[in-house]
Amino acid sequence: MSADRETLRVVVIGHVDHGKSTLVGRLFHDTGMLPDGKLEAIRAMSEKRGMPFEWAFLMDALQAERDQGITIDTAHIWFRTPERNYVLVDAPGHKEFLKNMVTGAAASDAALLLIDAVEGLREQSRRHAFLLHLLGVREMAVVVNKMDAAGYSEERFRTIQRDYEAYLAEIGLKAQAFIPISARNGENLASSSAAMPWYHGPTVLQQLGRFQIRAPSENRPLRMPVQGVYKFDDRRIIAGRLESGRIAVGDTVLFSPSNKTTRVASIERWQANRSAEAGAGESIGVCLTEQIFVERGEILSHVADAPVETDVLRARLFWLGQRPMGVGSRYKIKLHAAEATATVQSIERIFDASSLEEVRGGAVEKNSVCEITLRLSRLVALDPYDRNAVTGRFVLVDDYDIAGGGVVSMEGYADQRRVTTVRATDITAVDHGVSLVARTQRNGHEGGVLWLTGLSGAGKSTLAVALEAALFTRGYQVYVLDGDNVRHGLCADLGFSPEDRAENIRRVGEVAALMAGAGMIVVTAFISPYRSDRDRARKAADTRFHEIYVKADLAVCETRDPKGLYKKARAGELANFTGISAPYEAPTAPELVVDTGTKSVDACIDDLVAYAVKAFKRQG
Ligand code: ADX
Repeated sequence: MSADRETLRVVVIGHVDHGKSTLVGRLFHDTGMLPDGKLEAIRAMSEKRGMPFEWAFLMDALQAERDQGITIDTAHIWFRTPERNYVLVDAPGHKEFLKNMVTGAAASDAALLLIDAVEGLREQSRRHAFLLHLLGVREMAVVVNKMDAAGYSEERFRTIQRDYEAYLAEIGLKAQAFIPISARNGENLASSSAAMPWYHGPTVLQQLGRFQIRAPSENRPLRMPVQGVYKFDDRRIIAGRLESGRIAVGDTVLFSPSNKTTRVASIERWQANRSAEAGAGESIGVCLTEQIFVERGEILSHVADAPVETDVLRARLFWLGQRPMGVGSRYKIKLHAAEATATVQSIERIFDASSLEEVRGGAVEKNSVCEITLRLSRLVALDPYDRNAVTGRFVLVDDYDIAGGGVVSMEGYADQRRVTTVRATDITAVDHGVSLVARTQRNGHEGGVLWLTGLSGAGKSTLAVALEAALFTRGYQVYVLDGDNVRHGLCADLGFSPEDRAENIRRVGEVAALMAGAGMIVVTAFISPYRSDRDRARKAADTRFHEIYVKADLAVCETRDPKGLYKKARAGELANFTGISAPYEAPTAPELVVDTGTKSVDACIDDLVAYAVKAFKRQG
């Protein structure tokens, strides 16, 4: 099979009894791939075992061909159509398979999910769909097999379609097609079925032709993880492998996460064949027009389509570690050439790798698959795995052993580039004409920030305005910055995407710090769901920052639902709603916790006032 044709990798997921081998065998045959004599061989094998014609013997029948150059094994089958090549990958519920898929070693472009029309949806069908979610495969179709045994009933087919569509939607998947087939009779496989005139959708083969192949790496955004920086005579050479895209002399390039931009002066290769361009797959050295400081572990890209910068990520992970992984466990993370310390912030779900059953309990044992959130010790550059398989994959190292491998998802989390980029240059700080001591004396107390964070409906605004009134009565200079107010003015251009929230909190954090510097007590009431953002706000106000966790369980907030937003979010009418469809990261070490779920508003205000009085000392 020629190498320059497109090849689409399709993973076929389904229970063996649901006709997986028949489907695969039949497709192989119907596309004319079956060598002469093999059909007879399968028939003979079936008869010998006293069975009707059985496509499952296809693999056995082809075993003999292995030495003759036909690439086939029990897990993969290659075939071709006039348009392109296909590899069908059989997905056994098998650890090695899952490990390779989850760690990105064997990514597939698309998937066929197989369901038995007679049996209908089973617990397993749900797990199979979930497997797709774990594998990050988004291009998929559902094939409802054994329609012959179900009397070619449209009603039966539609019921399965309706129920499965609903389940898929729950886990964020959408099938491109539901195809009723009889694999045994070859109906709706390579040609349309006369027995199901009510079906007007594609055949399996037509659907395979509709699946998109990921763009070839040369056409994707430029990514060169920096492997090292070497000095040769007076030149500094940035060395790495181009994982995707193209680069040319004169290009403006961006290094992440250091956020430095400069231009390519020359491209160097070991074989001394200088050329002004290079493409994916090449290992090169890049000389820059300016001598900027760049380190191993950064990613070189173009300015447009740059990678994500983050210190937190979500991951699907295959765990191989001898020691179980738990919340708070720390590892070394290696992502392309970057390294950092990763702490397990939360474990969302754990699955047994063989049965795919969800495992209850807090720890991830060896040979499990899990969905987790990792917090990193510093900002790194990366891509979500579905954007780039190399810069979106990582391993965790425990002591000196590779203990897990996984792929990155940034769902619900912000690219922090915007909030960490400083664009202004040639600026000099100006000293104030009034000292902080003088201000403190004039106001009669110190200034600072009381940063209230918590879910929507936890009581932040209620407490903030009551605290403002109570402190004002006691003679304090105090002012509330509230999410709903600030979003009418200072932050009117921002919505609720993770990036917009990060920017919202950055602005408010800076304003609060300025006001605290002016001697005020600032009480802020923002959900501020991300730790990274709150940490930045703390950095801005420094020791004058006090994080206060307004605590109330999601269930409590949802019952209160003062603005009816939870109801809207549950109905799917409000996207990115914190706690429902967007994350909330509770503080780990707040200065104060006020639990509005268990305490009265008055008691919470008493606690807050007492805290503020202690925190902001009176002067003069
Ligand atoms: S934050 O996440 O960026 O800190 P902020 O506190 O400013 O949020 O705004 C939260 C308020 O916006 C909520 O009290 C609610 O009234 C309103 N809101 C509108 N859409 C959303 C949403 N998707 N998630 C949370 N709050 C929302």
